[in-house]
Amino acid sequence: MKVTVVGAGAVGASCAEYIAIKDFASEVVLVDIKEGFAEGKAMDLMQTSSLNGFDTKITGATNDYSKTAGSDVAVITSGIPRKPGMTREELIGINAGIVKSVSSSILEHSPEAIIIVVSNPMDTMTYLVHKSTNIPKNRIIGMGGALDSARFKYRLAEALECPTSDVDGMVIGGHSDKGMVPLIEKATRNSVNVSEFLSSDRMDEIVQATKVGGATLTGLLGTSAWYAPGAAVSELVKAIALDSHKMFPCSALLDGEYGLNDLCIGVPCILGKNGIERIVEVSLSDSERTHLEESASGVTKTNGLLD
Ligand code: LAC
Repeated sequence: MKVTVVGAGAVGASCAEYIAIKDFASEVVLVDIKEGFAEGKAMDLMQTSSLNGFDTKITGATNDYSKTAGSDVAVITSGIPRKPGMTREELIGINAGIVKSVSSSILEHSPEAIIIVVSNPMDTMTYLVHKSTNIPKNRIIGMGGALDSARFKYRLAEALECPTSDVDGMVIGGHSDKGMVPLIEKATRNSVNVSEFLSSDRMDEIVQATKVGGATLTGLLGTSAWYAPGAAVSELVKAIALDSHKMFPCSALLDGEYGLNDLCIGVPCILGKNGIERIVEVSLSDSERTHLEESASGVTKTNGLLD
């Protein structure tokens, strides 16, 4: 499998690193507009291959999409990241132009590529790729829910004082501080509902900490996070590469699922060699459904800023 990662900044480089370390792809091409930057990151990463034991070949290119030709998957991380105090929605003006031009350049050289969108505001950028490329909807995946769910599991494990491998939980809805819907009622520790271990106040705190997971890191780091976003992307790419049919919440174009239409928002998706193989409609409680509908209104409002 050949994977292109556009944007060799912290998130893009972290994607390339985790994809390489997991050793399922034959090639990763990093692309950046800054002269020599992607080539430098690729060379540095390649010099870890004997240390980290991977065979994936990583190369870099300065804005030369001919090097990405024949990619099976392309990840778009380009655009400006958030600064402390900014919302993801504030990035729309600059990032929309970048995402549109990058997706067109990718498809020019890899017409069959599956596109994974990471740039923010992610759900709206995913929708923009649908609107501007017209490729089949199964081939456009927004990465948000896999990251938000990882942050949710981190918070659950912290509260339960247990390893994250003991917990399971999922975040659906928009990838925004207000729009995330952590499904706390369905979260479990070894199949036991977490409400058996945690007070409802503690569960509310976990939900709030999850929703501002990215903003908390932006405040600490001065820019947006990269390790968990990179790792989350690598898991989506791996599910496609291995045709594993693993389920992740991803931003997908909805056409009636969950009673929603004409927007991209995080819902559980089965990923395989065709990208989104299936959207899974899980039953939601009244409160979960209300939160998802409110989140969808927010995403639709942000989509309206595209014109
Ligand atoms: C975050 C960015 C990737 O949540 O949206 O860290």
